[in-house]
Amino acid sequence: MALILAIESSCDETAVAVLRGAKGEPTEVLASVISSQIELHREHGGVVPELASRNHSLHLRPLVEQALAEAEIAIGEVDALAATTGPGLASSLLIGSTAAKAMACALGKPFIGVNHLEGHLLSPFLLETEVPPHLGLIVSGGHTLLIDVKAAGEYQKLGSTRDDAAGEAFDKVGKMLGLPYPGGPEIEKVAKEGSSAAFDFPRSMLHDPHLDFSFSGLKTAVLYTLQKEQNPVVADLAASFQLAVIETLVGKTMKAARRSRAKIIALSGGVSMNRALRAAFQEACDRAGIRLAVAPPDLCTDNAAMIGFAGLLRFLDGASSRLDADISPNLPL
Ligand code: KG4
Ligand code: ZN
Repeated sequence: MALILAIESSCDETAVAVLRGAKGEPTEVLASVISSQIELHREHGGVVPELASRNHSLHLRPLVEQALAEAEIAIGEVDALAATTGPGLASSLLIGSTAAKAMACALGKPFIGVNHLEGHLLSPFLLETEVPPHLGLIVSGGHTLLIDVKAAGEYQKLGSTRDDAAGEAFDKVGKMLGLPYPGGPEIEKVAKEGSSAAFDFPRSMLHDPHLDFSFSGLKTAVLYTLQKEQNPVVADLAASFQLAVIETLVGKTMKAARRSRAKIIALSGGVSMNRALRAAFQEACDRAGIRLAVAPPDLCTDNAAMIGFAGLLRFLDGASSRLDADISPNLPL
């Protein structure tokens, strides 16, 4: 049994988690606390890096104390300290990783630098006994990635976005439609009242043989419609846009699944919170006889439990990072 304390501070959520786990056993999340900065960045319509890092440094220490109290452990009991070291905003990554390194140094325990994308990717299996071979789709604010996962740590990228990430498209279209930041959950809410057949938006690259995505043409199509139509119904625009994203993601992922003969598809990242997206994937997977694995909602958007899980798997394999290892804002998976 190993106890790990993990910190996530790559963007606008400061998060700390304490996890307990052992090989072949489901991991226990003893505490997972988050201080969201969404309200702070909302008035700027997006994340302001300087504000984000200052708030990480303000909230981190109280969050560590809260997580330890909720987990009912003392800091000296943890076996390792993990933190996100990339990708993300440099000044934000530095706060969490430096804090984790300092604690590791003071306690004489190993530090484990974790790739934020690996955290998302493995999150659907956090409560299971193993990470099975599967096809992973990460759909977050910064990334849209299709990955052939042979095992934890063995990844092959099959496709990614050539321009905007899926969540980024949601956020930009939300802004165009006058909805609050972040646009993803707002579009989902508004789309429920609209008709997804009202506008025929493009499903870019859907029928191309490669497995890459593109969402910037779709975003531009929404903009042109807004400029051309007189008083278009926002709910119809939201519903039609959302369906175009969903059909593109489902279509490409199922194509990849057929090619790699995947038996399991796992969805992760903030956009996988979207219920219409989950329902469309569930239907497609049921039809194809594929198991769909999706993380519980609190593990979809940024959190430290997923960082702790990825770190724990590495720790249980005997791996650790050097204390002088740098952060990496563009770290690939
Ligand atoms: O994974 P995440 O919390 O942060 C990144 O690593 O980027 O993802 C945030 C993204 C944002 O773009 C947000 O708009 C989107 O996830 N998102 C959603 C929903 N909830 C969050 N997109 C669509 N529907 C949702 N319900
Ligand atoms: Zn994320």
